[in-house]
Amino acid sequence: MARRSKGWPQKTLAERIGVDPQRIKRLEKGTGSVETLIDAMEALELRLSGIAPGATITDQLRAKRQKRGWSISHAAQRAGLDRATVADLERGNGSVASLQSLLTVVAPNAKRRAPERSYWGQGDKEDRDSRFTPPEFMQIIYAAFGPVDLDPCAHRLSPVVAKRRILLDEGGDGLADEWSGRLAFVNPPYSAQLIWLRRAYEQWSAGNVETVVCLVPVRTDSAWFHQTLAADAEIFFLQGRLRFSTPSGKAQHTPFSLMLVALGTSAEQRERLSGAVPGAWTRTENKMQN
Ligand SMILES: C[S@@+](CC[C@H](N)C(=O)[O-])C[C@H]1O[C@@H](n2cnc3c(N)ncnc32)[C@H](O)[C@@H]1O
Repeated sequence: MARRSKGWPQKTLAERIGVDPQRIKRLEKGTGSVETLIDAMEALELRLSGIAPGATITDQLRAKRQKRGWSISHAAQRAGLDRATVADLERGNGSVASLQSLLTVVAPNAKRRAPERSYWGQGDKEDRDSRFTPPEFMQIIYAAFGPVDLDPCAHRLSPVVAKRRILLDEGGDGLADEWSGRLAFVNPPYSAQLIWLRRAYEQWSAGNVETVVCLVPVRTDSAWFHQTLAADAEIFFLQGRLRFSTPSGKAQHTPFSLMLVALGTSAEQRERLSGAVPGAWTRTENKMQN
């Protein structure tokens, strides 16, 4: 269901998490592995509410069991499972069917958290994910950080100048193709903001790009943002709004606030940016461990 609402065939989800499509098929029949489920939930930004804080569904379940004051044996007995199965599930291993039995007793009120959205308001439906970075703002990006080597979510009508552009209509996929170059500039489809930030972080951590600058709505509610991204990224909160244009040539100011999420930038680059754009850099400490 979450996969379909993103318009991803089983094959696309399988490629994005690096597994055989058969595993996705089994998962959707309720017979897959918890490991695949965790990866698929992450790729689809699927989170459950009504459990407890935690990075994955199994971490959340363990935290909820502990909050209830239940031992592993007690939870196992209530769920009709054996102790070793519950201990395994809490380590992220086991079958989806056992996980479901455990979830039903530990967190009976768990439900899917509403997906994150950025609302453009009027005209929301048309080209919601193809709004182009204004050329004046791009001039500031080039002046602050240097020429852009890669736009991994490019559009042929976008004014972003990059040595390499990954274009969907040429069969490219910035979420699957390896990134390259010194600087990647990423203004992604905002309906999948978290997925793109994760991709940027992963490609930067893998050393495929030296510096990544992402222009995204200010949206900081995910645990991953606080626990992982904020530990390494520099965040610049823009004062005011930018005017994005659409493929049909219309332009609209964002009805939401924007931030730059920068990985691997130097102090000089950040200073050049803040000298040219109203706003402020913030370094968020990693305080949210639990
Ligand atoms: C918000 S627009 C920004 C375009 C350009 N990066 C800019 O800053 O002007 C995001 C673009 O990402 C492209 N896109 C969406 N999913 C993609 C994918 N998996 N791989 C590459 N491009 C993608 C869409 O065509 C869309 O036009």
